[in-house]
Parts: sequence; C-alpha cells; structure tokens
Amino acid sequence: MSIDNLEDLKRAEAKFFDQIADIRTERDEQIAMEADIRRATKYIPKRGEKRFLIDPKMTALLEGGGRDQYIQMVAHKPGARVLDLGCGSGWLALELARNGCHVDAYDLSPKAIALAKKMLEENPYKEGFGSVTYHVQDVSEIDLGVETYDAVSGWSSFHHMPDVPAFMDKVERALKPGGIVATMDDMPRGHLAQGLEYFFEFILPTYNLTYGQKIAIVFKLLTGKKQYREEIFSPMEEAKHSSVDEIAAAFKEKFEILVNIRHNAFAGTPVMRITGPDALRYALARLVIGVDRLLCKLGIVKGFERIMVARKRA
Ligand SMILES: C[S@@+](CC[C@H](N)C(=O)[O-])C[C@H]1O[C@@H](n2cnc3c(N)ncnc32)[C@H](O)[C@@H]1O
Repeated sequence: MSIDNLEDLKRAEAKFFDQIADIRTERDEQIAMEADIRRATKYIPKRGEKRFLIDPKMTALLEGGGRDQYIQMVAHKPGARVLDLGCGSGWLALELARNGCHVDAYDLSPKAIALAKKMLEENPYKEGFGSVTYHVQDVSEIDLGVETYDAVSGWSSFHHMPDVPAFMDKVERALKPGGIVATMDDMPRGHLAQGLEYFFEFILPTYNLTYGQKIAIVFKLLTGKKQYREEIFSPMEEAKHSSVDEIAAAFKEKFEILVNIRHNAFAGTPVMRITGPDALRYALARLVIGVDRLLCKLGIVKGFERIMVARKRA
C-alpha cells in the first residue's frame, strides 16, 4: 500500500496492531512483555509450537541497561508530565507512572489500548504511582499542545508517522524548554547482520528447529529452493522506510543529543530461541550478545535497535 493512500494505510496499520493485541490476549494466564515488563509471564514454547516466547530476563540481557536508562531519562524529574506516543499495550506508560510520572498515552490500535487499560487497572505497584490516561487516537493528526510536557517518548513508534518532519515540529512545540525527547527505532541492518543471525540460530540449540531440520534448511537455501526469512513490517513501515533517517536528522537539527546508541545487530532472534536449562540458555546468550556488542562497537555490523535521547534547548 502506498503512502499516497494515507487513510487506507492508517486503517491497515490499526488492524495490524489490533491483530498483535489479539495474539497477546489469546491466553488469560499469560502477560506479554509489551503489556507489563514487571508482570510478564515467562514462557518458553515447546518444539513446533507457534506461540511467542516470553522471557523477561532474556529481554533484559538483550537491552543491556539501555531500556532502564531510557526510562530514567524520560522520567527525569519528580511528577514529570510525559507524552507516550504510539504506546501500544502500555508497558512503557506503566513504567513511567511507576516512576512518578503523569502520562498521556496515545495509540491508533483500539485493542492495544484496551489491553493497556486492563494492565493499568490490575497494576499492583501502587507506591509512588503517578497516573496514566489512555487515548485511541492518531497522533499525527492531533494537537500536542505548546510547552506542556517535560518529556515526549516514542518507543518504536516515531518511525510509524507518515510525515516525520511535521510530526517532530509538533513534538518540539509540545516540550517545555529543557524537556526530554526519546525514541527507540528499528533500523535496517544489512546482509552481514542477517547472515550472523542465521549462523547463530544454526549453531545454538533452539526450540523451534532440530539440527536435522536446520541442515535441511541450509541445503534448500544453498540450492535456491528456499528464500531467506522476510523481515516483518507493519503497513506504515512497509510504505516508508526513510523515516528512521528523518528522525535522526530532526533530532540533530532541533535538540541537544544526550544518547545515541545502536545495538543488537543479530543477537535478538537466536538468543530468544535458545532452549535447554536456564543456566545454559543465559550463559550462551551472554556470549552471543557480547559478540554482537563488540562487532557493533568495531563498526563491523550495525545495530537493529537505535535509542536516541535529547533535550530541548532552554
Ligand atoms: C512497534 S509498535 C510499538 C508499541 C509500543 N510503543 C511498544 O513498545 O510496545 C508501534 C505502535 O505505534 C502505533 N501507531 C502507528 N501509527 C500511529 C499513529 N499515527 N498514531 C498513534 N499510534 C500509532 C501502532 O498502533 C503501534 O501500537
């Protein structure tokens, strides 16, 4: 679908994330990481099972403190007023409120917001809790106010905006002088990172495939009978891949940059699929994540996750 057909594209985008919310609410007894990182239920699928893996400790290893630093920088002052744009099923808004913030959180997907509201109602961590108000709304269309917020955040959502420069103008206007803007975006990675992802998935014991199945897949790839895995994009991501560069350009032009990191070039998928006893899983994961960090630092591969935090000049 093309960006010229904007209304259809937004409807498709909302439907795509509604379907993801459906998967996350399929089983009452399970809480997804994206709904509440503190209450997420650990679940390692069995071989052949098509369910999502949930492993809070593995996610924390992959984030390597980046996510915690992000939260602390957004919740940078007591009682901060914060905008969480494209909040999805609400894990970040919840964490920010648990750090005392008052959060206005917006998303296009009614089902994601319904799940976020449920998690808010059930939240057991009440001490020092600020507040969250959820809205089903297209944030590219609404007025975000003038010098109203101490921080504006979008975790994996700014690059879903159809017109990033216009959107970033609104974000800048909404921030108080000295306010914080933060974004996490999924970046294109290049062939080497994709190759390393396959390599580590091949050599590590993973729950999704036996070594026999892996050898068969390699054979099919080499003989052209199978294609490499396609990356999954939402309709808006598919229609417009230039947004991540536009975000970086707007950050550099408008704000004072405090953090700009890229990591996890290839470790994510293989590490999340490792099977076996926990001690082995986490030890292997640390090794692969270490190699990933090193190759990113040496500039040999480019990280998939980019975190940028910046300040509006006073
Ligand atoms: C990759 S998800 C990230 C969700 C959440 N921040 C998280 O970390 O789980 C991107 C989110 O942006 C939302 N989104 C996309 N376009 C939007 C728009 N124009 N207005 C509001 N939300 C939007 C989607 O519905 C989706 O929930």
